[in-house]
Amino acid sequence: MMNYFELSRGKAEELRARRTARILALETSCDETAAAVIENGRKILSNVVFSQIDLHELYGGVVPEIASRAHMEACDRVVDQALKEAGMSLQDVDALAVTKGPGLVGALLTGVNCMKGLAFAAEKPLVGVNHIEGHVSANYLSHPELEPPFLCLVVSGGHSHLVEVADYGEYRALGQTADDAAGEAFDKAARALGLPYPGGPRIDALAEEGNPEAFVLPSPKTEGRYDYSFSGLKTAFMNTVHTLEQRGESLPKADLAASFRRVVCRELTGKARLLLEEHGRDGYRGFALAGGVSANRELRRMAAAMCEELGMTLFMPEIHLCTDNGAMIGSAAYYRLMNGEIAGLELNAMPALRLV
Ligand code: KG4
Ligand code: ZN
Repeated sequence: MMNYFELSRGKAEELRARRTARILALETSCDETAAAVIENGRKILSNVVFSQIDLHELYGGVVPEIASRAHMEACDRVVDQALKEAGMSLQDVDALAVTKGPGLVGALLTGVNCMKGLAFAAEKPLVGVNHIEGHVSANYLSHPELEPPFLCLVVSGGHSHLVEVADYGEYRALGQTADDAAGEAFDKAARALGLPYPGGPRIDALAEEGNPEAFVLPSPKTEGRYDYSFSGLKTAFMNTVHTLEQRGESLPKADLAASFRRVVCRELTGKARLLLEEHGRDGYRGFALAGGVSANRELRRMAAAMCEELGMTLFMPEIHLCTDNGAMIGSAAYYRLMNGEIAGLELNAMPALRLV
C-alpha cells in the first residue's frame, strides 16, 4: 500500500504536468483565521477572513494564547465556509496549502495541524507557504498580467523589506529594517496617541484630516544605503507627544498622525527610489507594494507619484488583499506546487522563517 507522501507526490506530479490546480489555503500566522480557494495562482474562487481583532483589542495587541485558541475554534468553520463559497467539497480541490511561518508559533501550529489532518484524510498534496511570500503573491491576484522580475516593497507588522522578485519563488534582499518594522512603528505611534489596536489603519484615517507639516520629525539614519530604521523616529514621536502632554495641552492627534505618516512613507518610498535610480529599473517589469502597510493611503499615493516620475508600472494589491488573508497563501502555493515543492506530514511551524 502506498503511504500518504507517495500518494500525494503522484498527484502533485499530475498537477504539474497539467499546470492547473485549485488550492484550498489556510492562514493563521497572527490574528486572522483565513481560508480561500484559488485557481491556478491567480483566480479567487472564495476568500473568507475571520478577524480576531475584537478579542485582542482589550489588551492593546495580539495575545498569543488567545490567538491560538481562537484559531482552533475557527479553523474548521472558516475552511468549510471557503469551500462552500467556492461551491466545492474537499474532494473537489486539487491540493491544500497552509502558512508555515513566520508568525506566532501557537497560531501557526494550529493551522499547520488542521491542514495536515485534512490533507492526510483527503489524500491531497500539501504545500507549506512562507507568509511573506504570500504577501508578495497578493499582487498576482490583483494583477493577473504581473510576472517577475519586479521590485517589491514588503511592509507589514513584522517586515520592512525591499526585495527583488527575480522569478517565482526566487528572491533577493536589497534592503531591510535594522529595528522596528513599518507596521510596528505605526502601531506604537498609534498607541502613544491613545488609539485602539490595530493602530496602523486608525493613524492612516486620522492623518487624512491632519497637516503633515505641523510637526518636524527626524528622517531616519541607517548604515545600509537601502535599509530602514524606525525606532529613532518612533522615540522622537513619543517625546513630542509626551512634551505636549506634560504641558497640559490637548493633543492635535490628526496633525501628529499626518506628520508621522508623512515621514514613514517618505522613507519607505525614498529608499526604493534611490535603489531604482542607482541600480537601474530596466530589469524590472514594475514596482510592487505588499503587506498590511501597503493599505496605507499616503504610501499608495507616494508610490504612484514615484512610479509616474520614473516611468515604471506600479502594482498594489487591492486593499482587502493587503492585510492577512488566505487568498495570497493559495497564490504563493500554486507556484511552489508547480515547482514540485510539497510537504510531508512532518511539516512544522517555523516562527522565525525568513523569505531571503
Ligand atoms: O500584513 P499584516 O496584516 O500582518 C503581518 O504580517 O504583520 O500587517 C499588519 C500591519 C499592522 O502593523 C497594521 O497596523 C498595519 O499592517 N496596517 C497599516 C494599515 N493597515 C494595516 N499601517 C498603516 N496604514 C494602514 N492603512
Ligand atoms: Zn501578514
